[in-house]
Amino acid sequence: MKLKNKSIVVTGASSGMGRDIVRLFVQEGADVVAVARRADRLAELEAELKDAPGRIVAYTGDISKNEVCEGMIDKAVAEFGKLDVLVNNAGVMDNMASAANFSDDKFESVFDINVYGVLAAMRKACNVFLAQGNGGNIITVTSVGAKHPCAGIVYCASKAAVDSMIRHVAHTYRKDNIRSNGIAPGGIATEIASSMGVPEGDGYSRVQNVLGLSPAPGTGSDIANCALYLASDDSSYVSGQIVAVDGGWTSF
Ligand SMILES: NC(=O)c1ccc[n+]([C@@H]2O[C@H](COP(=O)([O-])OP(=O)(O)OC[C@H]3O[C@@H](n4cnc5c(N)ncnc54)[C@H](OP(=O)(O)O)[C@@H]3O)[C@@H](O)[C@H]2O)c1
Repeated sequence: MKLKNKSIVVTGASSGMGRDIVRLFVQEGADVVAVARRADRLAELEAELKDAPGRIVAYTGDISKNEVCEGMIDKAVAEFGKLDVLVNNAGVMDNMASAANFSDDKFESVFDINVYGVLAAMRKACNVFLAQGNGGNIITVTSVGAKHPCAGIVYCASKAAVDSMIRHVAHTYRKDNIRSNGIAPGGIATEIASSMGVPEGDGYSRVQNVLGLSPAPGTGSDIANCALYLASDDSSYVSGQIVAVDGGWTSF
């Protein structure tokens, strides 16, 4: 087992790739605090994994609130005695609008979750890692959209900010042995479309050329397998990297 006795917080654990990350990590022996807003989904996951080698503890909350980002990491320390890995996976889409048509409401709601929520969790994790004094590990799910216009401008900009944060943490805490890496998924079959609402038609049409280059969708397991490598000691000298897991979509 690659993650035995590791204490790990995974956000966005109630569906999609976050749920598959939790499933794989607990089977690999990790003790996981699984975070999302939907308590019923987390309870289902706890029941599913009750006999797995590692433990799962649900934590319900909205990661756009600092008290939730602090609380989920405090929970891991209280339950498992330490924090080894933070997986910042929770995120939402925009409605595909381009610059002429994005709404201020969408900007605020997407940046609150995709950018502030990730940054607040990084702050808490870095403080815990520094206090523990033996390094740490942060994995953040970004998107190919950080570099390629495959969604609306708000979503792509939020993920570009995330890419910057991933590298900033890696560089500024490299001598503290705190690693920070990203996973940039391509098109993955999850429930992400439900956070999009009704696509804004003009913006949607303007990104069709990029969307048309994507191969068949990947799965949450494709992302979980990459997360396992980054969470395990197999990647102990890897930091500041963003791994595209996109079936070759952005290889042009
Ligand atoms: N699917 C793709 O094609 C794709 C491509 C590139 C990047 N990504 C990124 O991959 C990550 C995971 O997305 P997914 O595709 O697995 O989508 P998903 O199935 O919709 O899962 C998103 C997860 O995030 C949680 N979440 C959303 N807002 C939250 C909040 N404010 N507080 C706490 N949890 C929150 C959701 O749980 P609750 O609703 O229960 O809170 C859910 O568990 C996201 O960062 C997304 O941007 C996805």
